[in-house]
Amino acid sequence: MRTDEPQAIHLKDYHAPDYKVFEIALDFVLDPAATRVGARLRMARTGAEDAPLVLNGEALKLVSVALDGKLLAKDEYSVDAEHLTIPNLPEKFVLDIVTEIAPEQNTLLSGLYTSKGMFCTQCEAEGFRRITYFLDRPDVLAVYTTRIEADRKLYPVLLSNGNLITKGDLPGGRHFAVWRDPFPKPCYLFALVAGDLGRIEDEFVTMSGRKVDLKIFVEHGNENKALYAMDSLKRAMKWDEEAYGREYDLDIFMIVAVSAFNFGAMENKGLNIFNDKVLLASPETATDDDYGRIEGVVAHEYFHNWSGDRITCRDWFQLSLKEGFTVFRDQGFSADMRSHAVKRIEEVRALRLRQFQEDAGPLAHPVQPQSYISIDNFYTATIYEKGAELIGMLKTLVGDETYRKATDLYFARHDGQAATVEDWVRCFEEASGRDLSQFRLWYAQAGTPVVGAKGLYDKSTKTYTLSLAQTLRPTPGQPEKKPMHIPVRLGFIGKSGASLPLTLEGENATGPEERVLELTEASQNFVFVGVEEEPILSLGRGFSAPAVFAVDHSPADRTTLMAHDPDSFNRWEAGQTAARAAMMAMMQGASPDPLYVAALGPVLDKAMEDMAFAANMLSLPLESEIAMAMPVVDPDAIHAARMGLVKTVAAAHRAKFAELYAALGEDGPFSPEAKAAGKRALRNACLRYLTAEDDEAAATLAHRHYLSATNMTDMIAGLAALTRMSSAKKDEAFTHFHDRFAKDALVLDKWMGLQAGSPRADTVVRVRALMEHAAFDIKNPNRVRALVGAFSANQLRFHAADGSGYALVGDVVRKLDGINAQVAARMAGAFETWRRFDPARQALIRAELEKTLAISGISSNLFEVMSKTLA
Ligand code: PHE
Ligand code: ZN
Repeated sequence: MRTDEPQAIHLKDYHAPDYKVFEIALDFVLDPAATRVGARLRMARTGAEDAPLVLNGEALKLVSVALDGKLLAKDEYSVDAEHLTIPNLPEKFVLDIVTEIAPEQNTLLSGLYTSKGMFCTQCEAEGFRRITYFLDRPDVLAVYTTRIEADRKLYPVLLSNGNLITKGDLPGGRHFAVWRDPFPKPCYLFALVAGDLGRIEDEFVTMSGRKVDLKIFVEHGNENKALYAMDSLKRAMKWDEEAYGREYDLDIFMIVAVSAFNFGAMENKGLNIFNDKVLLASPETATDDDYGRIEGVVAHEYFHNWSGDRITCRDWFQLSLKEGFTVFRDQGFSADMRSHAVKRIEEVRALRLRQFQEDAGPLAHPVQPQSYISIDNFYTATIYEKGAELIGMLKTLVGDETYRKATDLYFARHDGQAATVEDWVRCFEEASGRDLSQFRLWYAQAGTPVVGAKGLYDKSTKTYTLSLAQTLRPTPGQPEKKPMHIPVRLGFIGKSGASLPLTLEGENATGPEERVLELTEASQNFVFVGVEEEPILSLGRGFSAPAVFAVDHSPADRTTLMAHDPDSFNRWEAGQTAARAAMMAMMQGASPDPLYVAALGPVLDKAMEDMAFAANMLSLPLESEIAMAMPVVDPDAIHAARMGLVKTVAAAHRAKFAELYAALGEDGPFSPEAKAAGKRALRNACLRYLTAEDDEAAATLAHRHYLSATNMTDMIAGLAALTRMSSAKKDEAFTHFHDRFAKDALVLDKWMGLQAGSPRADTVVRVRALMEHAAFDIKNPNRVRALVGAFSANQLRFHAADGSGYALVGDVVRKLDGINAQVAARMAGAFETWRRFDPARQALIRAELEKTLAISGISSNLFEVMSKTLA
């Protein structure tokens, strides 16, 4: 909380720390109201002799400071709201700092806090300074020893990073444990947990034959819900050995699930802490998407042990060094565990929905930002998902084998270091011998490039000239852009659907049926020879770059690609493009494109061959995806067009949907695996069309689907269909579900989210009422995201013309800022698309933004998001 205007931090101002910390010994005496933290720092000066030591600290009560065993007098140091400054220090010294903190008051959930009676920590990015005074920056690496003392009965489990050294009982019903982590680490990877927790245990034998104990800690009673996470962990450990040659290094690896958590999960060395939402699963409580997410996040945090912990970031401008790479690694894992084709579609869908949106708005920033006010605001889709796409492009450019050489080099060269994006790119240059100067622009320039393509076929010479052009619009602070280095994977399809070879002018052998062109200029021509017929261009296969591939296909060409493109991603893409074009035309008064509707026939005929893929082919672009294609977004028209197309498709293929739906019923015991999940996805896609109308027949089917479901995926599908309906069955089913899961907060989150996503006109009123529901707790980020986050993703109702949706989200953001500024700022991101709406809506949103910016004591987090959004 502050009254002065928050200041930005710039990458260009980076300088190495003046002091280093070799070792830190922490001593926690835990108490929810007043925890005493002792920190003994063994330090040395590395900078100028007269450089004072400036330690970060926030919301701390300083009890004492001692230098080499002697208490310092008040005039030997100075303290302000954010620092402890000590001048005149010797070259080597030991500092003893004692502070006091109040974990139960810590609603920001950064530092040491309590969640459902347990203690836990979250130190990334800058939470450690809320535990003790320290050089809270990632380039200060130290060895940690942590002693924890607490009440034995209330907190029987005491955990920290590394290995357990000793533990024992103390007088007065108390006990203690001492942990030591031999790997030097930055303080953001520190973790502590204390509580009364259940556990499951397993083990893993590494490739060199070392046994590692695996433990997952959860609330008592949830042990069985952690089994899938444990299974995922073991598969991830094995995969990282095989795919990247990375072996685990400590003798123990622990995961703890907590209820109140700002993000998904955290890679603290040897002690990952998870939001329970991405850890706990059972067939009755978790959907297939949940299972997939758990598998992915467990792997992600585990993979950080190498890409994050052993090699960390020099400063927070390098955040994508660990996050982009680790996302890329977890995506590779999930694809190997499931389906490469379906995984790729899901990744691209999420990227476009969140990252393209970010890149096109006021919060756009490069994968390596140049400045920030609050680093918490930069855990974004650009850093994570676009960062991962950059790694994917590097892999495409250098090839699989060289990619592995480059990552081996990176791990070998930078192990134990705080590295930079530049270090990373240099490993690729050395491993491949290629000059990646231009590729570096992907890290430096924000925005989504548009790759336009025009083909000219000359029948007489059988040549095809492909003109590719790239454009990149200005983004905040970057008015001028340079051309990027874009890998463009492509193929040619003949009218009959057969692939044609791609032979470039000057080549004497017939070329392959797919290749990667490198677009490096603003525009470039590629001449193909020996092209026997005019080809249909299949561009950007596998989504070979985080760009918009703009090809002007005719509706007929699109349906050919939908049916015949050997690249599954582009088959899906052709369908999405066709559907989007159909809906855009419907908004201009056209009737639904019969070619597109008919093209879904063969999709349905082949649906049983790859059910998960078919389910994706059948799902129309979301309303917000359609919005991205419109110069001025009209949420009501988009909703009407999409509903219209759903109904037309439903009517055209009704018999086939019904036949598939009947054939795909649940058989045998539940399996969370890809094949069984794909079957459910396809059946539920059919249900979507069979319940297209708002009538009693549809409501009855949806209700029956819900009631007969034996797993959460199917239950949700039934309920989701009902949210659109006026039938009394809707309330009946929602009440039934509520009562059944009244004690399970994570499941009630789904219940809230479905209601917040309803297109019905009373949704705003319902959401306001749900905020008063006993299960809602504004202090728990999961509850806020489930209800308010889901509502702001409901384009139709959030953007209601009367401004009621804006007011709701604005009210929550303003209230939340004083409780949890990180989550408040994140929720405020809902307004980032505001300039793409009509003037009346813009005026309503502007009023919300200004009102929010004016709240007294606004956090720097929210200040940054609001002021940049308004700028
Ligand atoms: N580093 C975590 C991850 O991506 C994310 C995170 C950031 C969690 C900040 C908490 C706080 O795995
Ligand atoms: Zn991560």
